[in-house]
Amino acid sequence: MKLIITLASLFAITVSHAEENLTFSKDIAPIFYENCVNCHRPGEIAPFSLLDYESTRPWARSIRRVVNDRTMPPWHADSSKTKFLNDRSLSEDEVQKIVQWVTQGAEKGNDSDLPKVPKFHDTWAMGEPDLIFHPERDFEVPADDQEIPYQTIYYVTDIKEDLYISGWEIRPTERASVHHANLVYQPQRTDNVGIVTAVMTGGAYIGSYLPGARPYRYPEGTAYLLPKGCQIGISVHYVGQKEPVTDHIMFGVQFAQGRVDKVIRTIGTYHSKFDIAPNEEEYVVETEATLLQPVDILSSGIHMHLRGSAYTTTAILPDGSKKLITDVPTYDFNWQSNYELAEPVSVPKGTKYHVRAVWNNSKSNPNVTDPSMRIRYGLWTDDEMLNTWSHVTVTGEKLGLEVKDGHVVRVAEGAIGSPKSQLVQTLPVQVNAQEQSD
Ligand code: HEC
Repeated sequence: MKLIITLASLFAITVSHAEENLTFSKDIAPIFYENCVNCHRPGEIAPFSLLDYESTRPWARSIRRVVNDRTMPPWHADSSKTKFLNDRSLSEDEVQKIVQWVTQGAEKGNDSDLPKVPKFHDTWAMGEPDLIFHPERDFEVPADDQEIPYQTIYYVTDIKEDLYISGWEIRPTERASVHHANLVYQPQRTDNVGIVTAVMTGGAYIGSYLPGARPYRYPEGTAYLLPKGCQIGISVHYVGQKEPVTDHIMFGVQFAQGRVDKVIRTIGTYHSKFDIAPNEEEYVVETEATLLQPVDILSSGIHMHLRGSAYTTTAILPDGSKKLITDVPTYDFNWQSNYELAEPVSVPKGTKYHVRAVWNNSKSNPNVTDPSMRIRYGLWTDDEMLNTWSHVTVTGEKLGLEVKDGHVVRVAEGAIGSPKSQLVQTLPVQVNAQEQSD
């Protein structure tokens, strides 16, 4: 008897599932709340809200299209080959659910099925920072203007001693106007605060702001060092909204506390020789840097311009074996990410940090308005650039720093390594070596 009841109820469930259409409230809102509304809500960068059915419904067909072709959520790395902490992509199951919901008529369902609307932070998501760096100038974002040149903005800094930070957050006051931004430090000021300039002048890339990005925290026992006297700057891509607004983009940090054994360092490659013919569909550059120390690779990122179309970073070990770091089969200039690896990639000294990058200068690249141009190196978006970076820690480094409120108070005995020694071949060395050899 018991068995029969169980079978009967199982049957009932199967039948009702097949007959019932998926609804916004029950099936779709949980996916949107998890994956879309950090950008798709009032006051954020995306053009419409996905918080409620009424504002979602008119977009149903284009939602089906963009989740199916995976243009939304914007995420360009191949997560089946490497896992990422900041992965924004939908699972196959989520995509299928959304497609099915739209195909079945994009019904609303019962309000009582709606999950709780997620909480958003209109203040600091990381909690009150220990120190807030304020920009030297605010930026007046003109209305309706989509082509605003990148803004170089320095922060008011007065870093009298080396400062070790355990986390940070970038917070614009006009979130809807900031498409993305890259943050660096440099030993001195220059006209440009791009990642390349920073690294070439002895500074480094700290991180990026993307809409919906969470505050950044370094792993236990590690910290980021902002050296004494450094200049912190940010390069911001603003997008105009209906009304002109004034943005004040802040950088908040949390001080490292307690034991710090490793500092985060940046390695990377740089290339400046391009000659991309008109209509060329696949222009490939391969470049690499040799690591002078064993490192744990924590993240990977790239900067190309409008014609960039794909890239792959691979570690080639001294024994010839390979470890994939990141594969980005569809690079998009508008969505440059720092891909944070779920599992650090550990490689020995002498490993080649190898980059293969591809450009598409033909009509099949939607970012190319004029495929008849010959493309060379330069700073403008119609020129090309290639620089790649990874944040790493040095394997076996044991700095033994006892840190209080971001400052070193004591160094433990038996410390190994120095937070400032050149443990990894730096970019300028690589650039010279590369340019002399070809
Ligand atoms: C990181 C921010 C971000 C996330 C996350 C995001 N979007 Fe978007 N979305 C945008 C922006 C910005 C635009 C405007 C077009 C552009 O800049 O690409 C947009 C545009 C769209 C469009 C209009 C496309 C068109 O062709 O007009 C749709 C539909 C859309 N998003 C759906 C979604 C859905 C569904 C999700 C979640 C599964 C999502 N988006 C997640 C930022 C985001």
